[in-house]
Amino acid sequence: MTIGLAIIGAGYWGPNLVRTALGTPALRLDWLCDLDLERAKAVLGPYVTVRPTDSFDAVLSDPDVAAVAIATPAATHFDLVRSALEAGKHVLVEKPLTPSVAEAEKLVSLADSCGLVLMCDHTYCYTPAVQRIRELIRGGSIGDIQFIDSVRINLGLVQPDVDVLWDLAPHDLSIMDFVLPEDITPVAVAAHGGDPIGAGRACLAYLSVWLSNGALAHVHVNWLSPTKIRTTVFGGSRRTIVWDDTNPARRLAVHDRGVDTLQAGAVQRDQRRQALISYRTGDTLIPALPEREALLSVMAEFTAAITEGRPALTDVRAGLRVLKLLQAASRSAELGGERISLNGMAE
Ligand SMILES: NC(=O)c1ccc[n+]([C@@H]2O[C@H](COP(=O)([O-])OP(=O)(O)OC[C@H]3O[C@@H](n4cnc5c(N)ncnc54)[C@H](O)[C@@H]3O)[C@@H](O)[C@H]2O)c1
Repeated sequence: MTIGLAIIGAGYWGPNLVRTALGTPALRLDWLCDLDLERAKAVLGPYVTVRPTDSFDAVLSDPDVAAVAIATPAATHFDLVRSALEAGKHVLVEKPLTPSVAEAEKLVSLADSCGLVLMCDHTYCYTPAVQRIRELIRGGSIGDIQFIDSVRINLGLVQPDVDVLWDLAPHDLSIMDFVLPEDITPVAVAAHGGDPIGAGRACLAYLSVWLSNGALAHVHVNWLSPTKIRTTVFGGSRRTIVWDDTNPARRLAVHDRGVDTLQAGAVQRDQRRQALISYRTGDTLIPALPEREALLSVMAEFTAAITEGRPALTDVRAGLRVLKLLQAASRSAELGGERISLNGMAE
């Protein structure tokens, strides 16, 4: 049985949802809705059977529509998601889930009480590279996580409604949330933002996240860099993963190189300082990754969650965890980079 779908938002990202929904046999795309009807018509072109509309109410009152995918600006997400859930539709919503934690918490309760799927499109979590990183970390082959270092910089569009943290860091934070074992959680953040071009909002930002096992993660996001760098390093006690998303021939490398430490009792007192740390050089493994478009896997996970009646892999709770980090990061940046614990308190 196919699932009737409507896509809301035909701007920059919506057409990618249209293309991948049309490429998913379990979905039947019925509607493309945008306040700008001409835009929806232009995205569909003359040949498809999908109906363009500017009426969200028309979509919600169509009994053949079981699910909606929302790709409108973040400020509109809360009202659109709430109305869709109240109309009994499953929802896939773009990142960030909403602009505020309070709204996201309301959506968590609503999705629970309706028994419907509310999935966040954390697209990167569905790339073959991130799926492999999750297997490597959760399977224990890199040992204990010691650090994460993520750089996502390029010449990006200065967004009218959000700063660079809210535009780009959801990617890094959702990846971190996805790959870390469940017992390692963020405990505090600190962030600095910069606006050297006078855009009125941070165009570059540095974010530190302290983790419950003592590891430290760092995220650098930037719209002003003429070179594009998308590299994340996951340092472990046994191995270190380097993910370079701009290098298709070698997206992932797993290095058996790092620092070993000995227990203080294992060496003589006078040897201690030298012997406590030793450097290990071993092989580097380049994992073979399948070529698969992440958004097709997003659509597959959305349909599987609906048919199996289970939460999606990146469900509304994952979206809420990312929002809590973003909100705390914004607060820290406002306070000049103060460390903010995730219970909302400046430390
Ligand atoms: N997953 C990803 O990698 C990724 C990439 C880019 C953008 N996004 C997310 O997608 C969302 C949309 O971003 P965008 O860049 O496509 O924005 P956009 O401004 O290009 O397009 C948004 C569209 O939504 C329409 N719209 C606004 N309010 C509406 C409403 N109430 N009903 C129907 N249509 C409405 C607008 O007319 C516009 O055409 C954002 O949340 C953004 O963060 C995700």
